[in-house]
Amino acid sequence: MSSTQHSPVNAAPVGVALVGCGYWGPNLIRNFTASRTTRLVGVCDRDQGRLDAVAGLNPAARQFTDFKELLKDPEVEAVAIATPPKTHAPFAAAALRAGKHVLVEKPLCVSSPEGEQLLALAADGNLTLMVDHTYLYSPAVRRIKKLIDSGELGRLHFFDSVRINLGLFQNDVNVLWDLACHDIAIVSHLVDRTPIAVNAHGISHTFSGMEDVAYLTLDYGDNITATFHVNWLSPVKIRQLIVGGHQKSVVFNDLDPNEPIKVYDRGINVSDEPESRHGLLVGYRMGDVWSPHLPREEPLRNMVEHFARCIRTGERPLTDGLSGLNVVRILEAAHRSIRAEGRRIPLNQPVSAAA
Ligand SMILES: NC(=O)c1ccc[n+]([C@@H]2O[C@H](COP(=O)([O-])OP(=O)(O)OC[C@H]3O[C@@H](n4cnc5c(N)ncnc54)[C@H](O)[C@@H]3O)[C@@H](O)[C@H]2O)c1
Repeated sequence: MSSTQHSPVNAAPVGVALVGCGYWGPNLIRNFTASRTTRLVGVCDRDQGRLDAVAGLNPAARQFTDFKELLKDPEVEAVAIATPPKTHAPFAAAALRAGKHVLVEKPLCVSSPEGEQLLALAADGNLTLMVDHTYLYSPAVRRIKKLIDSGELGRLHFFDSVRINLGLFQNDVNVLWDLACHDIAIVSHLVDRTPIAVNAHGISHTFSGMEDVAYLTLDYGDNITATFHVNWLSPVKIRQLIVGGHQKSVVFNDLDPNEPIKVYDRGINVSDEPESRHGLLVGYRMGDVWSPHLPREEPLRNMVEHFARCIRTGERPLTDGLSGLNVVRILEAAHRSIRAEGRRIPLNQPVSAAA
């Protein structure tokens, strides 16, 4: 979208309505209400009980049980969608057709044809389409990105993520679509590209057949590999990402409120002397560990304000429809790999995150 099509910039708060007031929706209501860049004008849920439960968070917001009625409200400039993943595409398509900007919770949708249709509708209507890959708006991920881009970590070697707990079983998606979409979005952002191939294993322990334990490996080319373990059955909660660089490495522990990021000046030095080739001399470098200071900002607030700014200025969202679609394509390939017992699935249409 070109910024010239949006000038002059309108500074008024964006009139937003939210559909889906279950577990996650109230977090969006709180942030749309608290931010000066947005004005929550409506909330929608088919369950009146959920509308009653969230009424106190913003008593001024009008209540709807019918999404079509909400779309008729001229004060609604933008719609945020926090309903189950299978409903994202129908709601988003209806909102875009009604001329509303759209923010969709992760994952953007559950199939790439759906995602392609949403991108086309947004482009046709010159509307902002954004997906909430919340972590990209966190001070921690922003800082890791800076460390990588500054060259401080050196050449990247690997990403290793564990995202496990006794999770909320979803009815319509497996654990990869629920949890690994965070890791895929984070790592693709950090390396500024999409992977060239995918391998995945997953197991279901319920009659639904939906995988609740899964392992995903993404090949980003240039000897950069990323492995994600996601699990809804773990008795303990772990949210840890290790970024391994040639010079330094970073450990991101999302459950540590005080020092979520630690930078390790540790690694190996491999001798390139010809006479040592047979003996492969590896030296270990054991340097300092430090924890960068991070501002205390709520990622969701940053995300909401970025959405409002993109609507007002025409700026392309960091997590635009294309980045959401790229995550969906990777998850589809992971599904094929699981069905083929972990076979490597090349991604035929690699799309640069910056394209
Ligand atoms: N960004 C994050 O970190 C994050 C965290 C948790 C959940 N999420 C996402 O948020 C979304 C919602 O997840 P949740 O855990 O809150 O689900 P949930 O089941 O708790 O809530 C969904 C709500 O949508 C309502 N709903 C369903 N179909 C509807 C329809 N046709 N019309 C109107 N209302 C309808 C339900 O009544 C329910 O209140 C999912 O896409 C999930 O992936 C994102």
